[in-house]
Amino acid sequence: MRSIASAPGKVILFGEHFVVYGVKAILCSIDKRITATSKFLDEPKIRIKSELGDAEIDLDALSDLNSIPIRFMRPFFHIVKETLKEFNEKIGMEIILSSEIPAGIGLGSSSAACVAVTASVTGLFNKKSKEQILKRAIESERIIFEDVSGADSSISTFGGLMLYGKNGFEKIDSKNNLSFIIANSNQVHNTREVVLNVRKFKNDNEVMFTKMCEQENELVTNALSALKEDDLNKLGSLMAKNQKLLEKINVSTDKLDLLIKEASKTSYGAKITGAGGGGCIISLVDESNASTTLENLKKNSDCFIAKVDFNGLSYS
Ligand code: PMV
Repeated sequence: MRSIASAPGKVILFGEHFVVYGVKAILCSIDKRITATSKFLDEPKIRIKSELGDAEIDLDALSDLNSIPIRFMRPFFHIVKETLKEFNEKIGMEIILSSEIPAGIGLGSSSAACVAVTASVTGLFNKKSKEQILKRAIESERIIFEDVSGADSSISTFGGLMLYGKNGFEKIDSKNNLSFIIANSNQVHNTREVVLNVRKFKNDNEVMFTKMCEQENELVTNALSALKEDDLNKLGSLMAKNQKLLEKINVSTDKLDLLIKEASKTSYGAKITGAGGGGCIISLVDESNASTTLENLKKNSDCFIAKVDFNGLSYS
């Protein structure tokens, strides 16, 4: 018997960095998925295979997850451990991951993997609600990223668009069929480092930063109405304004600036998505300008088109 589950990645449409200081962010699920396929093994081993590496341990080694050399795989073993404990089982299994989400560039691949692995492994025993799966997925991510907010796992589980703030998540009731070109700068970034640099900027420029938070707040409010009105021109110009704020807090780079400039020639608007300092940009398009924007960006980046995913976690 095989248990298959898949979960989507995400982009941040508005509010990255400012969300750390109380502004709400808008997250959007994208139609690029990670799929986990699990099955029982006859031997007492847990084996995980992915495009980024494979790992295999004895069942008994589940008691010491810190000994697993590939760090990003520890949450998956944690999921197996907790699920076996819950169902009072001691049985080997294999989990195979396959992904359409480029890893490590702020598109939520590790959270989507935790959500998909949780649903797939649990599915070998029983079916659980999305809420229950989300809870275990977040708990498993926290074993390697202690302070993870759970935003990426939440949007991956439920799909669509979501308003995310310090007090939790709110689904945005939208069926907007948004399309984006996502372009990867291929510059490696470290979210934690960029967040710390922004903190320093804030501490050195308190008054200016407070004003910027107010401006970001207004952008988010206006973006919610643009979504309601399905007004791409308005939404794109708000994204461009958000980008200006991100540039002011120094999270853009020459490469990202170049990609934004190229994307802005033809799309409704473009901005960094996620922490910046590298990683990706997104540009809002529709069928009238998607292919020209893609061609423009192809000269300087790996890029692809993505649409909103309204399904979130898919499992049986
Ligand atoms: O690069 P990502 O998708 O992990 O986004 C980071 C978002 C920040 O606002 C920069 C940090 C945070 O914890 O919210």
